[in-house]
Amino acid sequence: MKKAWWKESVVYQIYPRSFMDSNGDGIGDIQGIISRLDYLKKLGIDVVWLSPVYKSPNDDNGYDISDYRDIMDEFGTMQDWEHMLEEMHKRGIKLVMDLVVNHTSDEHPWFVESRKSKGSPYRDYYIWRPGVDGKEPTDWTASFGGSSWQYDNATGEYYLHMFSKKQPDLNWENPSVRREIYDMIRFWLDKGVDGFRMDVINMISKKEFLSSYEDFKNGNIHNKEYHPNGERVHDFLQEMNREVLSAYDILTVGECPGVTPEQARLYTAEERHELNMVFQFEHMSLDKQPGKRKWDLKPLDLHDLKENLTKWQKSLGEQGWNSLYWNNHDQPRIVSRFGNDKEYRTESAKMLATLLHMMQGTPYIYQGEEIGMTNVRFETIEEYKDIETSNIYRDRVDKQGLNPKEVMESIYAKSRDNGRTPMQWTSGPHAGFTTGTPWIRANPNYKEINVARALEDANSVFYHYKKLIELRKRHEIIVYGSYDLILEDHDSIFAYTRKLGKEELLVLNNFYQQETVFTLPPDIQFHSKELLISNYTVDVNQDIKEFLLRPYESRVYKLSR
Ligand code: GLC
Ligand code: CA
Repeated sequence: MKKAWWKESVVYQIYPRSFMDSNGDGIGDIQGIISRLDYLKKLGIDVVWLSPVYKSPNDDNGYDISDYRDIMDEFGTMQDWEHMLEEMHKRGIKLVMDLVVNHTSDEHPWFVESRKSKGSPYRDYYIWRPGVDGKEPTDWTASFGGSSWQYDNATGEYYLHMFSKKQPDLNWENPSVRREIYDMIRFWLDKGVDGFRMDVINMISKKEFLSSYEDFKNGNIHNKEYHPNGERVHDFLQEMNREVLSAYDILTVGECPGVTPEQARLYTAEERHELNMVFQFEHMSLDKQPGKRKWDLKPLDLHDLKENLTKWQKSLGEQGWNSLYWNNHDQPRIVSRFGNDKEYRTESAKMLATLLHMMQGTPYIYQGEEIGMTNVRFETIEEYKDIETSNIYRDRVDKQGLNPKEVMESIYAKSRDNGRTPMQWTSGPHAGFTTGTPWIRANPNYKEINVARALEDANSVFYHYKKLIELRKRHEIIVYGSYDLILEDHDSIFAYTRKLGKEELLVLNNFYQQETVFTLPPDIQFHSKELLISNYTVDVNQDIKEFLLRPYESRVYKLSR
């Protein structure tokens, strides 16, 4: 397997709005990030992925960009940003920026021009269609609810938006759009950034769906539902790679909702020159009812998780590359989701961390995950700030007439705001995030769960993450070893091996609170063993042929044959 720095790195995601506020306005900012870089250095991460800091009216917290080449006022100035990059590089930390190019803000000058007239030179930068029989052109629905078409008075046509109506989709079929985007990417690369996380990048090609619109208009077929991974997406990415990316030594990761392992290979196989890796979502949809939305809850079945993650490990083992994540700014907190955020918060957070970080791929840590931050339960819907969350509440309670209590339970489990409450730094007011009033309330458990406390406690989740990162630097097998699931049918243990040369890693995780017996499969033979990491005190000389795994117990042994 070919070596690469981005395969050997651990990435830390910062959601700037909620990370650290430096000036008391209640909103996290770039100076705040700079003030916490030593903390990230201590954790040992190699790369920061920074969620968008560009100019934005904040309909979707920065994922609606009105100027790709400038910084949002609340976050600071371009000088602040340059200073941040310098301070990161000084500490050996790389910076990956978020690239949101499926859509812009409706306040972006391109769209402002585009909507003025059908003859505007920018008209074709977006996707405009006349209505059909006085209705929307197709029945596609937007991710945040409602139709994905918005009627615009000025010209009497509809524009396409797969997210909010303030996020019109760009028309990637237009070569001028692509050229502008490549120029913009070059602008940031020349400033010294080390890569991009590409927002919903597998949605940029829509040709065949739009032609199904033509058929629809002519009365031939029903609307085809919108699907990602459109037919020209690989052409576009290969072009982007050829024109810009290939000239730089960078990390690229594409966010790809709905992607299968086969498709992921097309995006990430080295010889295809597209992306380094993608974020897939299959493991994030195992706790929803099949065919329904994430709000329609279902408990996780461990067998599904084992099967799914193993499928990804195997599919991208030799071709392409995996990203590994439990959390990001769109997901609930993993310790509340698959772990136990009450009496076994520490144990289960560490177990989940080990389970993920010992797999093959590049691990991503989302701010607060490293101290075991949990989901939040705000009493009223008004305390939630996320557009997706407020929309689903209105949709389910006001329109569908569902029981508000039940809808709130879904929100407690799945709202994106679970991941967006302020980073918990101290036990002081607002978790030490701000001296003012935070834009979203801190999780009240910050008095117990915070960075200051974690740093003082040698057994904290923080030091477990730190150790996992150190292990990756010391043992090549963690990066490059091949993966195999063991104890496939076991109901409560998620165990696997990694193999490289004469070495073998044995990764054991009790996924539940009940103790359970581990029995070493007879084909695993070794001369000596070394315990690399665990979340309980373990007698290192213990015979491991058969023993009891305690609640959420997790161990990694390095075996030598
Ligand atoms: C991605 C982002 C999400 C955003 C959406 C639209 O899924 O992660 O936060 O709302 O794209 O840009
Ligand atoms: Ca601020």
